Amino acid sequence: MTTRIDTVRLGGQDGPEIGVQGFGAMGISEFYGDTDEAAARDTLDAALEAGVTLIDTADAYGRGANEEFLAPFVAAHRDEITLATKFAIERTDDPTYRGIRNDRAYVRQAVEGSLRRLGVETIDLYYMHRRDPSVPLAESVGAMAELVQEGKVKHLGLSEVTGAELREAYAVHPIAALQSEWSLFSRDVERSAVGAAAELGVTFVPYSPLGRGFLTGSFADASKDLSDSDFRRAQPRFSGENAERNAALLAPVHKIAAAHGATAAQVALAWVQQRAQVHGLTVVPIPGTRKRSRLLENAAATRITLTDAELADLEPIAAQVAGDRYPDMSFTAVAREA
Ligand SMILES: NC(=O)c1ccc[n+]([C@@H]2O[C@H](COP(=O)([O-])OP(=O)(O)OC[C@H]3O[C@@H](n4cnc5c(N)ncnc54)[C@H](OP(=O)(O)O)[C@@H]3O)[C@@H](O)[C@H]2O)c1
Repeated sequence: MTTRIDTVRLGGQDGPEIGVQGFGAMGISEFYGDTDEAAARDTLDAALEAGVTLIDTADAYGRGANEEFLAPFVAAHRDEITLATKFAIERTDDPTYRGIRNDRAYVRQAVEGSLRRLGVETIDLYYMHRRDPSVPLAESVGAMAELVQEGKVKHLGLSEVTGAELREAYAVHPIAALQSEWSLFSRDVERSAVGAAAELGVTFVPYSPLGRGFLTGSFADASKDLSDSDFRRAQPRFSGENAERNAALLAPVHKIAAAHGATAAQVALAWVQQRAQVHGLTVVPIPGTRKRSRLLENAAATRITLTDAELADLEPIAAQVAGDRYPDMSFTAVAREA
């Protein structure tokens, strides 16, 4: 029988109890190459067996396809999971188009699409995926708060916002979760977002906690390890000389993994869990995988404790990473912090 992971309460007192690690569903529908659907469904079953109950999707993933893929699983397990989805990245029939919409009319339109595709009456956690700074947070979060009052949404979340933006939003309506990239390779959230979340009692949901797979050591050479359609081929950290330099940074991760009889992925996940403790913060990382064995491997990382010496060995890595998180950083929180 699979050992179940520990639980934590989302966003403080009145949130649901969820596993301390969640599941990122994005890669099932887009970005990381072809998916075997049967294996992906089996991975979702493994998530439940392991107590991984926060299921993360977005309307943008696969332009609605990811929410539709999840619908049968959600219908079968509605009361066992906490369902999170997001709005704000506008997509159209043109697969290359991306807009950012935070206005009230868009919020109201987007939620209806997500409810329909997911086949639910209520979304447990509804995030604003990206911030359009030209729209006041009072308008966006105010519109999200209306959805709570109407029973369409239970809890609110934000993604890729600064600490100041989180505080401003929280003043409009309590925010249960902040989802931003946080890993051994990506630590800009430690500038302001993490501190604000800790102070407000907001649960932090680190996305891409495995550095989109790079930290597992499996994708060191993008030209060989990634399919032609894989979007990581265009990511600065996965390309050319950067990839080579970044792979070399993983040496301490592999060494620590060997000492624990663990994998590099598990060390990366244990690190984010322990780094959060330093900041007095509750975290629920959401690694994404389409394989049962990896889901169970990742969940088991919640039982690993790194020593102070090991944490010290991992500390310098992020500052040495070559390449940004995205080719265009203009829509990230850090761009608004500069
Ligand atoms: N809010 C946002 O803006 C935002 C942005 C990006 C992602 N997200 C969310 O965060 C979730 C996780 O992020 P992510 O999927 O980008 O990156 P990630 O979790 O850091 O890495 C996923 C990659 O790692 C591989 N992987 C997973 N476990 C592994 C293991 N134990 N050993 C070796 N390889 C492993 C996966 O491959 P396989 O699938 O083949 O196992 C996949 O290629 C997403 O699913 C999405 O829900 C949110």
